[in-house]
Amino acid sequence: MVSAAIAAFRAALGEATRVMVLSGAGVSAESGVPTFRGAGGLWRRWSATDLATPEAWARDPGLVWEFYDYRRRRMADVQPNPAHRALAAFEERWTAAGHQLALVTQNIDGLHELAGSRNVTRLHGSIWHVRCLRCGAVTPNRDVPITAAYEGAGSPEPDAPSRRFGPEDLPRCACSGVLRPHVVWFGEPLGAEDLEGAVRAAERCDVLLVVGTSAVVYPAAGLIPLARRSGAVVAEINLEPTPATRDVDHHFCGPAGAVVPELLDDLPKRTT
Ligand code: OAD
Repeated sequence: MVSAAIAAFRAALGEATRVMVLSGAGVSAESGVPTFRGAGGLWRRWSATDLATPEAWARDPGLVWEFYDYRRRRMADVQPNPAHRALAAFEERWTAAGHQLALVTQNIDGLHELAGSRNVTRLHGSIWHVRCLRCGAVTPNRDVPITAAYEGAGSPEPDAPSRRFGPEDLPRCACSGVLRPHVVWFGEPLGAEDLEGAVRAAERCDVLLVVGTSAVVYPAAGLIPLARRSGAVVAEINLEPTPATRDVDHHFCGPAGAVVPELLDDLPKRTT
């Protein structure tokens, strides 16, 4: 049965030409990627937010790489779920109908792209890219382990034996500079072009669909009130209310893998 809220949201989409999607870790949860703030967010005794910082890197780059190596291993075999697939299929139909869609994600797992989404802005970078600290080159890299030294390392258990990794264990660029994960860490600025594109999309969209984000990390979370102030109809899909919930037009409570297809499948309707 289609609820009145779903019908109202689909009616708003029927009037729209520009749609924006803002996604967070919750969209990948059903693929088996742990979220940041939910259960499973800890690695040993640290939360992701302790290690995803420039300070942690300055203190112990070997430990930060061990953490990312673990995350890369966890993400290496995961597959897009019905939410990613419904968003990609919707983009194809929507753009074929001459409309615009911008998908702005905070996720670094690459699952939207793997599902076939095209117009994706990765606000927080990509776990499958590395950046050279000497020459600045950004390159794709799917090596797991990231270097031979990390073979068998990375256990998430709190009592896992801690191994020290030295400069000789770190991944290196062809120029011999040290490589770091090409992700945005806490306290680092987002890519200026990415952020500008996301702000433009939020200001111009007719409908914003917010999927699986706790809406507490800025500037991404600020895109939600920005879209609303700019006149968009805003809908949120989450398992629970978030700080953004009071400012949205529709809150759909449920798993993204079920709710996103229900909202988007078969839209836009064929007119011929
Ligand atoms: P969080 O882990 O903070 O929040 C995930 C959200 O998804 C929560 O609100 C959950 O209730 C919701 N959720 C979980 N499973 C879901 C499901 N199956 N369907 C729908 N919703 C579900 O993740 P983000 O909001 O993405 O930044 O976190 C934002 C940023 O903080 C991340 O990009 C990362 C992190 O620290 C950086 O690394 C810079």
